[in-house]
Amino acid sequence: MTPAPRLDNRSYYDDFAGWYEKERGQGYHQMLDDLEVGLVERYGRDRDVLEVGCGTGLILDRAARFARTATGVDLSGGMLARAAARGLRVVQGSATALPIADASVDVAYSFKVLAHVEDITTAMAEMARVVRPGGWVLAEFYNTRSLRRLVKAIKPPSAVSAQTDDEAVYTRYDSPDDIRGYLPPELEWVTARGIRIVTPVAAVHKVPVVGRLVRLAEERLADLPVARELGGFLVAVLRRR
Ligand SMILES: C[S@@+](CC[C@H](N)C(=O)[O-])C[C@H]1O[C@@H](n2cnc3c(N)ncnc32)[C@H](O)[C@@H]1O
Repeated sequence: MTPAPRLDNRSYYDDFAGWYEKERGQGYHQMLDDLEVGLVERYGRDRDVLEVGCGTGLILDRAARFARTATGVDLSGGMLARAAARGLRVVQGSATALPIADASVDVAYSFKVLAHVEDITTAMAEMARVVRPGGWVLAEFYNTRSLRRLVKAIKPPSAVSAQTDDEAVYTRYDSPDDIRGYLPPELEWVTARGIRIVTPVAAVHKVPVVGRLVRLAEERLADLPVARELGGFLVAVLRRR
């Protein structure tokens, strides 16, 4: 199969915008969202939160219900139009130059975005810059040390639209040690949440009983020492000094 041509992030996500929510709200994707939102709620209830790369606003919409204020930033006008249609407060901009004032939020979080950012040290410095001292950065990476990475290496690319597949955009994988190396001095690694530790392929979540058991296992393992660092999606929980 001929690989899809590599696109810049904005074009890729503008193309993806009409399809993005196709699989969401059920099974595997619901589990990812629930584990991500649960972490934001732990740190962001009644606080000012910012989502970096908010996409169509599926996570931001849920955060807006428990946060004091919720703002989203995204590069793609196509994705943002859908978030704005939900009535969310969103602004167009890049993770590497956030259009957000210094020390203006309590929690900056980012899910399924940083893995597509080449200049990762600038993105981490930007998230640190906008968070108040004592606040939190929740930064999700794609983990090299995971079952998900192994399966991705074997499996053919998945279609995201009629034109592109999931290999048409820049994607990085990092180990927990790599991530520690990207942190600016003002961010302290406190813990991590591991998401998708034992799920071999997303489709298992569609199998009756088995899907339920896998989800229960994922919920139990997500915050367990050692296990959590094997999450396909690894969320570093970082405190702003
Ligand atoms: C896979 S979606 C995730 C959306 C949302 N976080 C969620 O979990 O539903 C990735 C989003 O990141 C955005 N994005 C990619 N690179 C970006 C960058 N450098 N700055 C800001 N947003 C970016 C894309 O436009 C897209 O909306």
